[in-house]
Amino acid sequence: MKIVKVKNNEELSEKATELFVHALSRLEKPVIGLATGSTPERMYEKLTEKCQAGDVSFKNAVTFNLDEYAGLTAGNPNSYRFYMDEKLFNHVDIQKENTHLPNGLADDLQKECKIFDDSITKEGNLDFLVLGIGLNGHIGFNEPGTSFDSRTHVVELTESTREVNSRFFDSLDKVPTEALTMGLGTIMEAKEIMLLVQGDKKAEILKKVLHGEITEEVPASILQRHPNTTIITDVTL
Ligand code: F6R
Repeated sequence: MKIVKVKNNEELSEKATELFVHALSRLEKPVIGLATGSTPERMYEKLTEKCQAGDVSFKNAVTFNLDEYAGLTAGNPNSYRFYMDEKLFNHVDIQKENTHLPNGLADDLQKECKIFDDSITKEGNLDFLVLGIGLNGHIGFNEPGTSFDSRTHVVELTESTREVNSRFFDSLDKVPTEALTMGLGTIMEAKEIMLLVQGDKKAEILKKVLHGEITEEVPASILQRHPNTTIITDVTL
């Protein structure tokens, strides 16, 4: 794993944008994996600015988001589809039909997971994947204990993740109890991974990911086995 140490969130977002643009520009049909959350927000703003300035284009890009809540409509401001439309897709030249998130409203969620995973395989897997990390080491919604071999699947959210995410909802009971997420096996097939780790509250988990045991108890520790992962972080190490 390569580590790029930066001073603050602005520099982190700048570096992340650089790597993202490089991935977008070097491939004829880039297949990109995307994360939501607070960490990549500034990067999406910068990508929007660059696209609007004509410095980069999403015209040929195909995207797959890591995860989506079960049961929220696209118009629900807490759905990840809403987040992606608001923060990126509505402002760049991407073709909406090329943007994919697991459908949390599907009648058969298990079947939806399989369809989603197969679509990534059909595209030849992700060329470039943006990841954030939770305080417990989760990536996507792969909570501690998730199998390293997992494919896209339905998860029951842990109380700690629901509590952390409840800041976006009116109350804790409005936070869905289930989500769909790319699995760790799916994630590891990405050709290049960029993990963004922002803020000193993530120092402890980042140290475990970098130097700790590779264990399903720390899902992101599997990245030690990935051949092309860059971690961009402003955490004091
Ligand atoms: C979101 C996702 C999550 C977040 C993680 C960190 O699509 O996959 O794993 O990346 O929860 O979230 P923030 O950036 O809000 O700290």
